[in-house]
Order: sequence, then C-alpha cells, then structure tokens
Amino acid sequence: MIKNHWYLVCPSHEVTHKLMTRKIVGENILFFRERSGKAVAVEDRCCHRNVRLSLGFLKDNTVVCGYHGWEYDGSSGTCVRIPSQTEEAKIPKTAQIKSYPVKEFNRWLWVFPGDPEKADSVPLPDIPELNEWDFTYGSYTFRAVLESAAESLIDPYHIAFVHRNSIQSFMGQITDFPAEFNLKFVDDGFEGNYRRANVGKLSEKIYFGRDPYIRTFYRFYYPSISRLELRFRKRTLLILENVYAVDDEHITMMQITLWKNIFPMFPAFARYFMRRKSAKIVKEDIAFLESQYDIQRTKRQEVSVTGDEVSLAFRKYWRIQSKETE
Ligand code: FES
Repeated sequence: MIKNHWYLVCPSHEVTHKLMTRKIVGENILFFRERSGKAVAVEDRCCHRNVRLSLGFLKDNTVVCGYHGWEYDGSSGTCVRIPSQTEEAKIPKTAQIKSYPVKEFNRWLWVFPGDPEKADSVPLPDIPELNEWDFTYGSYTFRAVLESAAESLIDPYHIAFVHRNSIQSFMGQITDFPAEFNLKFVDDGFEGNYRRANVGKLSEKIYFGRDPYIRTFYRFYYPSISRLELRFRKRTLLILENVYAVDDEHITMMQITLWKNIFPMFPAFARYFMRRKSAKIVKEDIAFLESQYDIQRTKRQEVSVTGDEVSLAFRKYWRIQSKETE
C-alpha cells in the first residue's frame, strides 16, 4: 500500500467536533475538529486494551476511550489522563497512539497516512476547481484491484459502453482512427486530451453546443486521483475519482463531480441532477471492477491493442512509481 502520500478524505465542512472514522491504506483513522477549529487525526485505537477509540467520546480536545476512560490529546496522540491512577502518578511513555498530519486545502481535508517526517516533502495535488466550483460526491467501498480501479476513469473507450445507459447520450465514442491522445508525462502523473463525438440529442446540443466533437481532457495524479474533464464551450463538467486501498482486498472509490456554468440559475437542481447521475455512473463502473477482481485473481492473461495506449501508459507509469515507492 502506498502510504507516503496525501489522500483526500472529505470536504472540510464535514469535519466537525464529532468523531469521524475512515480506513485509508490500511490505517484506521479517527478525525475530528478541536474547539479551536483545527482539524486533527489520530489512530482509531486505544493502546490500553487495543479497542477502537471511536467507541468513546470527545471531551474538549481529547478523545476519551469508552472502555476505561483513558484520554488522548487529538493533536499528538499522547495519553494525557488515566482515570484509574492519581493525577500525580506518571503516565507511561508508551501510552501513545499515532497522530497523522492533516491539511485543509482547496476546501477539502487531506491526510498523510505514512511517515509524518516525510509529509512536508510530498506536495498535494493542486486542483483549484475543488475550491471554486459546485460539486457533489459519493464514496463507495468494494472489492477491486487498486491499479485497475485507478485506471478506469481515464480509459477512453469504456465510456460509450459501460455508461451507455447514463452518459453515453452526449459523450459519444472516439471516432478518429487512430485516435490522438496527446499523452504527456508531468511531475506527479500524466495528462492528455482527445476528442469524442458529440452525439447529444437536439436539446443537449442547443445547451452544450453543436460542435461535432467534445474535447476531453484526462489527467492522473499519482497515486490516487484520476480526472476527466469535458469542455463544451462555456460549460465544463469535471469528474475526479479518488481511489485508494482500504485493505488487501477492498478499495474506496470516491467520485467527485464538479461543474461550471451548468444550470447556474438552479444550483439545487444542478446538485440533485449531478448526484443522481454520478451515483448511476459509479454503480456501472463498480459492476465491471468487481467482475475484473474475480477474474484477475485467476491470473488470466489480457490482450491489448493500439487503442489501449492511455491504459498501457498508465500501467507503465504506475509500476515504475510503485517500484520507486517500495
Ligand atoms: Fe481504552 Fe482501557 S481499553 S482505556
């Protein structure tokens, strides 16, 4: 599991003075906001008898274990009070749980589950649209191969088939042959663009434009965020998929859909519409990723063709980076 990276957790406003848990790259993490407004993250474990700290409760800036009441400081993970001994008695130095670096950036909370000393030297992906555009998101945990799930959004040919009942109506197939994907490697991943047929209905063409093609931009931020952006003149639809391992079998896929100038006069309707669409799209992807997980475990060989250029570039990049991370 790739631990020494920053991972998106949730929109900042969802972190409040309440305990919230997530499992990210094998780490059970407890998040909350201190009274001062600072967001913090500690291991979801009490080191007294190894129970989940999330079964306890908050008392100002400390988390109180629900079993025997040991109290942990949210910023450092240090145990600061043990009710079964006097205030003067020494608290063992080993009464300490992990604390994780967190950052609030572009309206979202990020966590660094790896070595805290490395956190400052690893940059966060800067996606300013997270800070500026309307969005909706959903998070799903299921059995899948991490690499395949991270690859799925930017696989250019899957949309017209996997999503034939949801978005295929205006995101047509790639009709150029051979397709030009304009692939370019950058510091933290790769990017490119290509064009797909604009097959929208008349009403969609009136709203999104009658150009015969829709310019489609893709980007991968190693190791966890894929991005697909569709530009229709003044309107833009941006899909981010934040994918990370939960444990050896499961992944979490968080799909964040952002938009600009789409139903700007009706923001509540836009959010409702996008939320429903996004949920349908993710379910369509999950069906394929789960089926792929079962078959890949039997080590069956795959067959690739020229049109798989983006996927193959992704795999090569992923393997090189994963080796360097080891
Ligand atoms: Fe947490 Fe005892 S197990 S205080």
